[in-house]
Amino acid sequence: MRTIILLGAPGAGKGTIAEGIRSSSPFVHVSTGDMLREAVKAGTPVGQKAEAFMKRGELVPDGVILALVEERLDKGSRDGAYMFDGFPRTIEQARMLDAILEKRAARIDRVFLLDAPRELLISRLTGRRVCRKCGQGYHVVNIPPRKEGICDVCGGDLYQRADDQESTILNRLDVYTRQTESLISFYDKKGVLVRVDSARPRQDTVAEILRVTEALTV
Ligand code: AP5
Repeated sequence: MRTIILLGAPGAGKGTIAEGIRSSSPFVHVSTGDMLREAVKAGTPVGQKAEAFMKRGELVPDGVILALVEERLDKGSRDGAYMFDGFPRTIEQARMLDAILEKRAARIDRVFLLDAPRELLISRLTGRRVCRKCGQGYHVVNIPPRKEGICDVCGGDLYQRADDQESTILNRLDVYTRQTESLISFYDKKGVLVRVDSARPRQDTVAEILRVTEALTV
């Protein structure tokens, strides 16, 4: 089993880069943010617990997240390769992930820290639009759809995420600094951290990560 993690502040490009990696590699994309948004949309018990935290830009309790991740890993993946996006987000979650992987005789191969300046993060998030039907991501300036408000892929309507209002964005960035940034030294000490400049065109960031993952042994 191979495991990589995309770590980075809101707007660093984790979802965008994951999409590029997924299309050219065997890694299955496990995004706790996407899983939570689906649960909220479906009105499941997990979604009901998570919704208020997400609207405020706060972290959802660790227990809820861990149950989601274990459930996903139990489903398996054809090539045994996983790419976590937005998980772990606390030292506690990182320890729980270590325990989950140990049970499966696996470990974390690399943690890619996607790095971009704060002003860029804010402009990316305020300009983000997502397709309501297929989930494809856009940006009003950087990655616009061919027709305003309409998804190029499926023709669905584009919407702005509820947590992409400026005041919530600022809170999410603050939560990242307080609760998630400590993971950088946690993984650096384990010798698995790779810093990647994600302020560049996305294809350059994807290519750099793929060069590293292709060299990983199974
Ligand atoms: P989550 O969905 O994980 O949000 P996030 O971490 O805040 O990250 P984002 O999805 O906002 O940003 P991203 O880095 O993926 O950027 P993107 O690629 O979209 O989590 C949402 C909420 O769920 C959390 O606040 C929390 O409440 C809860 N949650 C989730 N996981 C949790 C956990 N483990 N524990 C507890 N709670 C959890 O890019 C952003 C924009 O920039 C897009 O418009 C994109 O088109 C554009 N863009 C990206 N890269 C480029 C580029 N290179 N060039 C030009 N434009 C670019």
